[in-house]
Formats: sequence, C-alpha cells, structure tokens
Amino acid sequence: MRIAFISDIHGNFTALEAVIKDIKSQRVDQIISLGDTVSLGPQPRKVLDELRTFNGIYIVGNHDEAILAPERAGQLEIAEHLVPDLHWCRERLTSEDFEFIKSFKNTHEVTFPNGVQLLAFHGSPTSRTDIIQATTPPEQLEKYFSGYEASVFIGGHSHIQMHRRYGKLLILNSGSVGNAFEFAFSPGNPPHLLPWAEYAIIDQSGDSFSVDLRRVKFDIEKLVSEVEKSGLPGTNWWLQQYQK
Ligand SMILES: [Fe+2]
Repeated sequence: MRIAFISDIHGNFTALEAVIKDIKSQRVDQIISLGDTVSLGPQPRKVLDELRTFNGIYIVGNHDEAILAPERAGQLEIAEHLVPDLHWCRERLTSEDFEFIKSFKNTHEVTFPNGVQLLAFHGSPTSRTDIIQATTPPEQLEKYFSGYEASVFIGGHSHIQMHRRYGKLLILNSGSVGNAFEFAFSPGNPPHLLPWAEYAIIDQSGDSFSVDLRRVKFDIEKLVSEVEKSGLPGTNWWLQQYQK
C-alpha cells in the first residue's frame, strides 16, 4: 500500500501541478492532503479544482479554518499582515469551494495491511496550530503522542520535512508543497521559501515500511507570472522570494 501525503499548498497551483505529476509516476493507492490548501497564493480555485479530481482524504489546516471563519484568524495564528490575503482568497472562492473546505476532516486514521496504524493531522493530533519540529523536547512529544493506537504520525504546518523516530513511534512531516521554508518559522524571523515543492510517500509492502520525503522542482517563472497578474495583497513578498 502506497500513500502520498501533500500539505500546505497555500494556493500555489504551479507547485501542486508538479507534485501531482510526480505522484502519478509513483503509482500510489491514495492521496491524503494534510491541510492549508488555498490561502496566501495566487491560484486558490485551481488548487481546489485539482484536489477534487483525485478523490482523496482532505484534512483541515488552520488556514482552511480561517477561510471559513476569518474573524478567528488571530486565534488560528494567522499573522495580521496575512489577513488581507485571506480575504482576497475568500473573494475568489465559490459556494461549492466553501462547501468542499467544510467537508475536510480533523484527522484521519490508516491501518496498513501489516497492521501498522497511522494517524494524519495538520499541526498535532489535537490541534491545527501546534508546531512539531526536530527540536521539540521529548516531554512535549509525550504530551502530543502518548495514548494512541497509532505508531506512525504525520502532519504538516511547520513547512519543513521531518523524519523523527521517538522510541517505537515515527513522527513525520511531509513538508510544504507550495511554501517550503528554508528555516523553521519563529516570530520576528520572516520565512524564506525554497525553490521546490515537498511531499511524502509512505510505502508498506510485506515486512517493509518506508518513508520517502520527496522534493520536486516546479516552474518558478510560471508562478512569478501568476503572482504578478493576480492582484494578491502579498504580491511583493512572493516576488522577493524568487529574486535572483
Ligand atoms: Fe501552512
């Protein structure tokens, strides 16, 4: 059984397109989206149209929830300077798009044919805003992951790929399709984007269980041209990311 995990697309359809092409070459059985699908980037509608085509599992991220309830943006840890982008995105979505986002799940469980159980989420099993990193202290990991049947956990939200074994548990992050960060986000330290898309494939066959943290190049010039013609409030930030 092979599952692709994609997260944090953030309205970057150009990156999503490249990732979907790569996934199609990998013959997966299922695609699971770990949240933060549309806000921030220039092509929210095209992202949702693409997601709808593959009949996947869709988990809600803090940005998805803020799209549905923009008055809660602060509580959902959406920085104040990003709120205009949130509203720009909302103005472009149709009622079908909102209904689709409302159908996203909080978490999703998978049992692989060999009995290994996995739990998928956005931030942590109980929160869309918890950030789990390679440096998260063990006592914090105990708080997030003890008491579950699952032994494999996968989320997004940090925008940084991670493979961390903790005791008998495996804690994973598939990275970000549309907004891969160079360094972990910290307040006062604006993120800088890497010029590629990230996602993960988990493969279980027979006794083997493997995790492939993948990196896919996408057409930066095409994305820049989409940003330039979008009228997105955050246009300058996007353009700065890809200045040569
Ligand atoms: Fe995100």
